Amino acid sequence: MRILTGLQPSGKLHIGNYFGAIQPAIQLQDEGEAFYFIADYHAMTSTQDPKALSDNIRELALDFLACGLDPEKAVFFRQSAVPEVHELAWVLSTVCPMGLLERCHSYKDKVAKGVSANHGLFAYPVLMAADILLYDANLVPVGEDQKQHLEVTRDIVGKINDLYGADTLTLPEPRIREEIAKVPGIDGAKMSKSYNNTLPIFGAAKATRKTVMKIVTDTTPVEEPKPTESSNILALYKLFVTEPEVAKMVQEFEAGGLGYGHFKQTLYEAYWDHFAPMRQKREELEKDQGLIDEILQSGATRAREEASKTLSRVRKAVGLA
Ligand code: TYM
Repeated sequence: MRILTGLQPSGKLHIGNYFGAIQPAIQLQDEGEAFYFIADYHAMTSTQDPKALSDNIRELALDFLACGLDPEKAVFFRQSAVPEVHELAWVLSTVCPMGLLERCHSYKDKVAKGVSANHGLFAYPVLMAADILLYDANLVPVGEDQKQHLEVTRDIVGKINDLYGADTLTLPEPRIREEIAKVPGIDGAKMSKSYNNTLPIFGAAKATRKTVMKIVTDTTPVEEPKPTESSNILALYKLFVTEPEVAKMVQEFEAGGLGYGHFKQTLYEAYWDHFAPMRQKREELEKDQGLIDEILQSGATRAREEASKTLSRVRKAVGLA
């Protein structure tokens, strides 16, 4: 089984990225051949600052490794180290209907928010399909916001295989963990860099505590029982602790007598403890200047080998070879 996922280097990774994609990817690296990459071409649709892009690439590599990506098990590389992906993207784009791309939420949402759309943003799902199909991935661990992109990918596979033969491309399956498909931000909306509502994985203690204290709640007075159904604090707390610990907090919500500040502090401590070993590992990785380049370089070599196999198969199938 081949597992693949990618993350955009477009700013500090947050716990939505962690629980939606990184944690499942790390767990899956023991269950098959893992290909994990930094989607730097994709990030260019929104980051046009060269220094920011190259800093973000390095930071993302450090974050992913600190969270447990094992380069002995997983092939870890930069998307842009395998430019072959564009050739496959072109082939895919020749069968991808415009309507399919026009319906994509992430594109429509960005345009609705006033982002001036470039062609890269519009064609983004085709490049993403190429990322997945270039490596014959079977399983793609992602958060729910990528579900539609996986559907586009699967549609494209159907079209290519109908036209050029059933074995041309491998049909991938998304792996979306239902319980945490959409990690909420501090305001209750989906946690997202573009909504400014994130909790970073590796934030500084004081600043992150301040962010946790800003989690939106209702105005129930301290002594009164508090609603548990729509609580952002509980939704986030659940990600870090065991069921009995969640049950305890639910009980305390219902009993009244404790204010939201108390619960936020408990959440902050759970967050801090969860990432403590990874924070330490990150500090160690940071000291070894050449390590990241070495890992990404050897990952790129391995990724390119796979990419060229798929491409020669596709070239033959479509009549280019
Ligand atoms: P990106 O960089 O926006 O996000 C990386 C991963 O984090 C997940 N995620 C979340 N999961 C749960 N709750 C949230 N609030 C949340 N926010 C983000 C995303 O679903 C994603 O899995 N298009 C991709 C990058 C990409 C890719 C690929 C992924 C490019 N090519 C091929 C898989 C396969 C993206 O923008 O992810």
